[in-house]
Amino acid sequence: MEKFDQLKMFNTLLHGGDYNPDQWLDHPEVLKEDIELMKKAHINCVSLAIFAWAKLEPEENVYDFKWLKDIIDNLYANGIYTLLATPSGAMPAWLATKYPECLEVTEQGLRRYYGERHNFCHSSPVYQEKVKAIDEKLSQCFGKHPGVIAWHISNEFGGDDQDSQCHCELCQIAFRKWLKDKYQTLDNLNHAWWNNFWSHTITDWDQIHSPSMQGEHELHGLKLDWKRFTSYQKLQFAKMEIQAVKKYSDLPVTTNMMTFFKPLDYYQWGKEFDFVSWDSYPEWHLEEDELSVASRNACFHQLIRSIKKAPFLLMESTPSMVNWKPINTLKRPNMHELSSLQAIACGSNSVQYFQWRKGRGSSEKFHGAVVDHRNHDNTRVFNDVKKLGERLVNTSDQIIGTINKPEVCMIYDWDNRWALEDVQGLERGNINYDLLFNHYYRPLWDMGIDTDIVDMTYDLDDYKVVIAPFNYMYKPGYADKVRKFVKNGGIYITNCFSGEVDENDLCFMDHHPLSDVLGINTEEIDTVDVRYWPNEIEFDDHSFNVKNIRALIHTTTAKVLASYKQDFYQGYPALTVNEYGQGKAYFIASHNDLDFLSYLYQKILKQANITNHFDAKLTLGVTINTRKDQEKELFFVQNFNRNKAEIYLNSSYENIETKQILQHQVTLEPFECMILKKTK
Ligand code: GLA
Ligand code: ZN
Repeated sequence: MEKFDQLKMFNTLLHGGDYNPDQWLDHPEVLKEDIELMKKAHINCVSLAIFAWAKLEPEENVYDFKWLKDIIDNLYANGIYTLLATPSGAMPAWLATKYPECLEVTEQGLRRYYGERHNFCHSSPVYQEKVKAIDEKLSQCFGKHPGVIAWHISNEFGGDDQDSQCHCELCQIAFRKWLKDKYQTLDNLNHAWWNNFWSHTITDWDQIHSPSMQGEHELHGLKLDWKRFTSYQKLQFAKMEIQAVKKYSDLPVTTNMMTFFKPLDYYQWGKEFDFVSWDSYPEWHLEEDELSVASRNACFHQLIRSIKKAPFLLMESTPSMVNWKPINTLKRPNMHELSSLQAIACGSNSVQYFQWRKGRGSSEKFHGAVVDHRNHDNTRVFNDVKKLGERLVNTSDQIIGTINKPEVCMIYDWDNRWALEDVQGLERGNINYDLLFNHYYRPLWDMGIDTDIVDMTYDLDDYKVVIAPFNYMYKPGYADKVRKFVKNGGIYITNCFSGEVDENDLCFMDHHPLSDVLGINTEEIDTVDVRYWPNEIEFDDHSFNVKNIRALIHTTTAKVLASYKQDFYQGYPALTVNEYGQGKAYFIASHNDLDFLSYLYQKILKQANITNHFDAKLTLGVTINTRKDQEKELFFVQNFNRNKAEIYLNSSYENIETKQILQHQVTLEPFECMILKKTK
């Protein structure tokens, strides 16, 4: 097969979802109806066999693939492609009974009973062997089937419970081996973990145990390495599966990732897959408006796209509601189209659902689906899906081949997150990197500025502006990269509690690693209850409220742009800028309300002449993402307001779906998304 085309992917926008015919094999009429309904809803792909292990291998080494082949053949005959899953996400009961070592052991040392899913030990040789065997068989049987277009490896590695992780003896041994490979000697490890503290010097590798509330749970170096190890260990498992499905097949592989999922470093993961995909379940309609949810969701779409700087697939989303949140709210009219097109706007080449049809029993029977228990194609949801399907069919040719090309980038880093959230200090136990990060992302979303989101290992050369909030840990080489970036004319924005520790979570001594670039040195950091200790900063004759985190710094070469107004911090710099080489570096010492960041970003982007290229005046809640190719730029104009919104166009644009020419004032319906391009 030719090399997988990262940009065009499957040459058409995909529309489909998780299909579980294994629940309906004794209902041929249902399977028949599925095909009819899929065609009606413009479905062109399904994700198949994700949880079908018990049907594919009902007894050990007894495989039954006939039903699956019939399903795939029939789908293909009807123009519907299959993303074929490996079934490792949920083991069959016979396997757990015969090989209990496959089941996870909790932090307290208890082996779990059989049940649930995503509950296996990734170190278990037996589990690996069993998964490899069935994956290779699937590869042999379906790897060259013309109806199968990709491999969907397992399901949501590491889910459903973020804290669930096997602590069995096999995992302890694997962890120690990983540490030995990394540190070579115990001296190195003792130094990296600062083990002279509390007399924790390790004298034998076997003294090391995974962090547990029953034992060691405050040793930051250990906890950080355990996080790294468990992400790596699961990735090794995924790589084993990738190799297995590729044994007889050249099809591209992916796995479905999750929003800001703490246990897995998705930047590392992305390297092993041909394309990236993720499952998006934003909490629409649970707040007073949709804007912060929309911004957070866009942020993650953009992170996912940035992993490969290429289009991705929206592997799962709900067409209506989920069933696992404290409050399970339906998508209100138009939200299905808007949230789906938001994914496309941010670089997805698909809209896929969990789930195609509601099951009759068990825990997901009330989870939203395209096809409900009753009324089938005569439901609001089915019609929403069908309508979206029409839009995807009509726009596919224009969208395929385009991609977002941001000039702005933010640094999000998993090692940083693991270390930062473990800090004993600030508001201990309450440091939420994602919330903090999203705060610094939000004004970009408001302005309709597309943003790449990459970790500290990526190149910065493509960008004009780099924003690195709460970049507490600096990986080796990072400071030099930023130094070069600014020297060559880049604009770097960072803030308090950045550049505190190295990759081992050991504090930098003497000075901030970028003190020359930033022109400052940091001293103390304060966390307060703002109810009792309010403060403001003064910037360009405007006052802005300061939030709970405040750094005290002094300048060396930087210019002070804003200072604290009250209390003993009065007069200390709150915002500085330093000219360095051809570029500039900003340091935000105080963590401030959003209006400050909006003001600052607007000012900086204006000076640097960075716009979203959409020649219009937007209103709050209407945002833009831009996908382009060599000939055109497509503007996805998204109104996340519950009300109509007016925007004012300064140039004339064509609506690529209706072909209507738009000028001057344009009204968007509540939750409407228009796709526009400039008229020639
Ligand atoms: C996840 C899983 C699916 C399903 C959905 C429900 O994304 O991958 O199998 O459980 O959640 O929202
Ligand atoms: Zn284990």
